[in-house]
Amino acid sequence: MVQINDNFTKLSDSYLFTEIARRLKAYTASNPDAPIIRMGIGDVTLPLPDACIKAMHKAVDEMSQKDTFRGYGPEQGYEFLQDKIRQFDFKSHGVDINNDEIFISDGAKSDTGNITDILGNNVIAVTDPVYPVYVDTNVMSGRNIVRMPTTKSNDFVPELPKEKVDVIYLCYPNNPTGTTLTKEQLKVFVDYAIRNKSLILFDAAYEAFITESNVPHSIYEIDGAKQVAIEFRSYSKTAGFTGTRCSYTVVPKECRYRRQCTKFNGTPYIIQRAAEATYSEEGQLQVRQLIDYYLLNAKIIRESLSAKGFEVFGGINSPYIWLKTPDGDSWAFFDYLLKEKNIVSTPGAGFGASGEGYLRLTAFNTKEKTIEAMDRI
Ligand code: MLT
Repeated sequence: MVQINDNFTKLSDSYLFTEIARRLKAYTASNPDAPIIRMGIGDVTLPLPDACIKAMHKAVDEMSQKDTFRGYGPEQGYEFLQDKIRQFDFKSHGVDINNDEIFISDGAKSDTGNITDILGNNVIAVTDPVYPVYVDTNVMSGRNIVRMPTTKSNDFVPELPKEKVDVIYLCYPNNPTGTTLTKEQLKVFVDYAIRNKSLILFDAAYEAFITESNVPHSIYEIDGAKQVAIEFRSYSKTAGFTGTRCSYTVVPKECRYRRQCTKFNGTPYIIQRAAEATYSEEGQLQVRQLIDYYLLNAKIIRESLSAKGFEVFGGINSPYIWLKTPDGDSWAFFDYLLKEKNIVSTPGAGFGASGEGYLRLTAFNTKEKTIEAMDRI
């Protein structure tokens, strides 16, 4: 008889965003005309930048001609994209990364999940609340997980774990709280990792939303980080690629083991050309417009909720607004917003025990619907 990896039985029944989709479906089945406004999962609403569309059309045409057709690409990604990443995402922030340290892939969710393949029986530390993928993928591998509460009472700056941990996941700007760490605060973690020979898995999927100057764009801006950190980036929220799928991971030579070439055959050529186009002059302008559009929504949410007496966090360097729920129970407030206001949100408890009492709203809807949602609350 087939043996199933026992660790999978330890997962909760449903992934957070699947559970939210299930509740939404159940509600709309009996209320088909409900004017739902989606502010739950961080999925973008605006179309792809025109520069990316043009690049994809061109790449499709190339695939139709014998002379320009491409089959398998390099598993790690094409150099034309690695070159742009190296210059625009790192060199411009004073960080030297080599092309062969950049692994292009199909999403930060897969990358942060797949990286667990190369980890042994380590003790893992995560912030709480936390993006559930880090926890679930380590439960699948049977690892011990230590939580670092990150709440209003510590100004959303996690304290170092009391016991020695081997791997620390950090996501900044943070999902779900929308808060950030300064360079000095991030340095505390890098120094800990150097001292303890630990590894930091730094998820910078929301880097494009940074507006404040003391917020690091890359962990490699911190001295010594290349010895101890792997960084994840994504085009999903930056350039509207949630359905197009492209990301990359920086694995410095200091932290290298083989996995990717065995288990992955590369991101499609057409998609990598679209990602490359985000760095063209036209692409940069269009990406900036997208980010500014969502940041304006975030401001609208922050300001209107504050004016209504809610305590709100995040939303300045992030598309996420984290608010205190009126009476603690975040699933109850989620249900209230869904059924009474027809607004989909994400309950804080879905991100961990320390998320209870909070709720997350995203700025990824249109400006009109964002304003309408604020009017309804
Ligand atoms: C979120 O809503 O937290 C994200 O969109 C989920 C993801 O990126 O997988």
